[in-house]
Amino acid sequence: MDSILVTGNGPLSGQIPIAGAKNACLTLMPATLLSDEPLTLTNAPRLSDIRTMTLLLQSLGAEVQALNDGQVLALSSHALTSTRAEYDIVRTMRASIRVLGPLLARHGEAQVSLPGGCAIGARPVDLHLRAMEALGAEMDLRDGYVHAKAPAGGLRGGVVRFPLVSVGATENALMAAVLARGTTVLENAAREPEIVDLAQCLRKMGARIEGEGTSRIEIEGVDRLGGATHRVVTDRIELGTYMLAPAICGGEVECLGGRIDLLQAFCEKLDEAGISVEETAAGLKVARKNGRVRAVNVVTEPFPGFPTDLQAQMMALLCTAEGDSVLEEKIFENRFMHAPELMRMGARIDVHGGTARVRGVEALRGAPVMATDLRASVSLILAGLAAEGETVVSRVYHLDRGYEHVVRKLRGVGAKIERIKGE
Ligand code: EPZ
Repeated sequence: MDSILVTGNGPLSGQIPIAGAKNACLTLMPATLLSDEPLTLTNAPRLSDIRTMTLLLQSLGAEVQALNDGQVLALSSHALTSTRAEYDIVRTMRASIRVLGPLLARHGEAQVSLPGGCAIGARPVDLHLRAMEALGAEMDLRDGYVHAKAPAGGLRGGVVRFPLVSVGATENALMAAVLARGTTVLENAAREPEIVDLAQCLRKMGARIEGEGTSRIEIEGVDRLGGATHRVVTDRIELGTYMLAPAICGGEVECLGGRIDLLQAFCEKLDEAGISVEETAAGLKVARKNGRVRAVNVVTEPFPGFPTDLQAQMMALLCTAEGDSVLEEKIFENRFMHAPELMRMGARIDVHGGTARVRGVEALRGAPVMATDLRASVSLILAGLAAEGETVVSRVYHLDRGYEHVVRKLRGVGAKIERIKGE
């Protein structure tokens, strides 16, 4: 298994291009199942999760071509051969559940493997199933699979009230509702930019949607959808991650393609911590010129709150802040596994349930550490950038799921980092 060697190397400077969003692309790709006309996605990220979604769609009989070095995805599902999403693919990526709504809406049935366990939490899919039932589908769990069947004549409009905000269940319900007969209302819907991006793409395909980005989305079903070409929105989590690099090491870095509206709550926390964030013509410029970072308290929430997918990276920053910071993880019940690894680097962190108290230390020291999930892996790389000496992060296959060209991007701004090929 590959690992990444990082050596603390002082302030950073230069530019980092931000790719298209993994979490938008993973819901835009299944949208091809809603139409027999081609869907083209530009600004697609080159990640192992995108390759997994490609395999999944191809296993259903869809055509998926990666063009322009993988930044353009040409998708078509005019002749599906199956409506069954196999366990072998689904167990490697939970996002696979997002084929349920589109298959049910256009093909009237679907068999989707249940995703199984996840390192950061139980992550059930009950809200996805409830949403499909609200649109008239019969749902049955058998042999580790969801067996879904639409009523004769197809799904019908209905009211879906989410008891808690779920990004994935909102995306599945939205994709199911665009072909349902009549009107659907999603209440307490997720408001993430990835959902706005999905709605904009579906609208280009001919869907009738109002209210995306708010907690109430209204969809008027149509008989069929056409094709479209859509540019994937910027990856706000990759953006936030690289904004933290100069924050943690010092220096000034411009993140190309960055937008404040994608990360308002996060940018406010950086400002509170003494980090300057400035909009430029090309993106966002982040700088920490002098002095230590100030301690801040963080609570993770659904958008527009502080994103849970930046919690681990923010913890890495706060390890060397002046004072104590308290981080509350409100979305996932087991998302502090990076804390013991950061403590191997000399951090002082007390974790109690969903709360972590970080007592700022003068400096971190390099050490061998292990990645446990996608965002934890990159938080260890950020910590290594600021630590004295060498840090070796193992199990970086987690990283490849959500970050393209990490070594090249960080080297481009002066970081001392290399990938070590495993046996
Ligand atoms: C999406 O996951 C993202 N993944 C996650 O990013 C992100 O952390 C999460 O949203 C929250 O922002 C993708 O978009 C592919 P949820 P999703 O449904 O849709 C509970 C990353 O690092 N819940 O909003 O799976 C659930 O357990 C990944 O890129 C139910 O109880 O998240 C959680 O506590 C990690 N029942 C909460 O809701 C359900 O049916 C929010 O989950 C669904 C969810």
